[in-house]
Amino acid sequence: MGRKGVFALVVGTRPSFIMAAPIIAAFDDAGAALKVLHSAQHYSENMDDVFFRDLGIRQPDHRLTAQPDQKSPARQIAHIMIGVEDWLRAETPQALMVLGDTNSNLGAALATRKLNVPLAHVEAGERSGDLAQAEEQNRRLIDHMADVNFATNARSCANLKAEGIPDARILITGNPIVDAVLKNRDKAAALDLSDRPYSDNLKGKFGVMTLHRQENVDDPDRLPVILRDIQAGAAAAGAPVIFFAHPRTLARINEQELMPGLESDPNIMILPGAGYHEFVAVLQRASFCVTDSGGVQQEACIVGVPAVTIMDETPWPDTISNGANELCRPAVDPITPAIGRAMQKSYATSPWSQPFGDGDTGARILQVLVERFGTR
Ligand code: UD1
Ligand code: UDP
Repeated sequence: MGRKGVFALVVGTRPSFIMAAPIIAAFDDAGAALKVLHSAQHYSENMDDVFFRDLGIRQPDHRLTAQPDQKSPARQIAHIMIGVEDWLRAETPQALMVLGDTNSNLGAALATRKLNVPLAHVEAGERSGDLAQAEEQNRRLIDHMADVNFATNARSCANLKAEGIPDARILITGNPIVDAVLKNRDKAAALDLSDRPYSDNLKGKFGVMTLHRQENVDDPDRLPVILRDIQAGAAAAGAPVIFFAHPRTLARINEQELMPGLESDPNIMILPGAGYHEFVAVLQRASFCVTDSGGVQQEACIVGVPAVTIMDETPWPDTISNGANELCRPAVDPITPAIGRAMQKSYATSPWSQPFGDGDTGARILQVLVERFGTR
């Protein structure tokens, strides 16, 4: 396939919009041609459009049609593969970037590799070691297909090398999530939250919470126990949690008729997912964070808020070893006392290191791609 002097980037889920923003800005500022494809995996206003507004991302050049069946990974990935293949044949970019570990990225990476268009993976080399996680399956496959792996740090680089990925395919760049936080944290801090339903909670100690991993929320045995233990932890700590709930989680909560128990408890306030500025604003002011999100675990570490992570394994062990985060394995580690321990931590008096980069990752990725593949 003849290739024009244009790069391509696939977005499509909430975390990808945040990682993409600094990369798109770096290309646009340098006048380097970049086409953006939206996989349409996420499509609701608060999972999609709000991030384009908050992060000042230009509209995608192309959006795939809605996915036929999000409950079937094969159908979801196949739909994206076909859409990306058609788009690649029409656009003939000189390289395509995927960001992170979602099904959109696996579908796009497979289509790109099959056409032997050079493939770059941002946030490469993260490993939880748990192949039962959809994200671990995706990131392992993508890293082995990619021509260029943009690893966050020495740990992610070592993970890639341990799997036999050649040095020439690995570059340490940091994670663009840091660029996004540093660029937006003041805007977020300036946001007026006085009209929000949780505005009174902001006056005292409070926690912020997200939960959406399929192994946590789709398991009818796990979800009620996780929620009950977080509610108990918030009560014991005297710090209510503001829970920004993913649409998947809201659906499961309603199906399991758990909403009345949440709505009647002053220790938890459940709301739909927030925009990026609102989320970072609340996170920055929180005394602790409870999450199973990869991005939120990293952001809590970056902004200095102690985290409790509800996962079987985390791909970000450096947040554990530096004291920023505590892993609570569902049905193994008690969540309630972990919230108490998080409340006792103070970044102001005992700061931890920040292992995810210096905030210049977008520019570094641009530089590497231009050096490797040239421009128009
Ligand atoms: C996906 C990723 C996960 C990532 C998360 C970020 C995979 C396998 N999982 O999980 O790694 O952490 O995105 O948020 O790729 N829904 C809406 N509106 C939307 C999007 C989803 O209502 O805009 C609902 C739909 O009912 C859908 C369900 O959420 O079926 C799950 O969406 P899906 O994109 O399949 O997975 P996520 O849980 O979002
Ligand atoms: N986020 C947000 N609003 C919310 C919850 C999360 O803007 O209500 C942002 C958060 O700042 C982080 C990103 O979403 O950067 C993480 O996405 P998510 O948790 O959906 O996915 P993951 O990172 O686990 O793949």
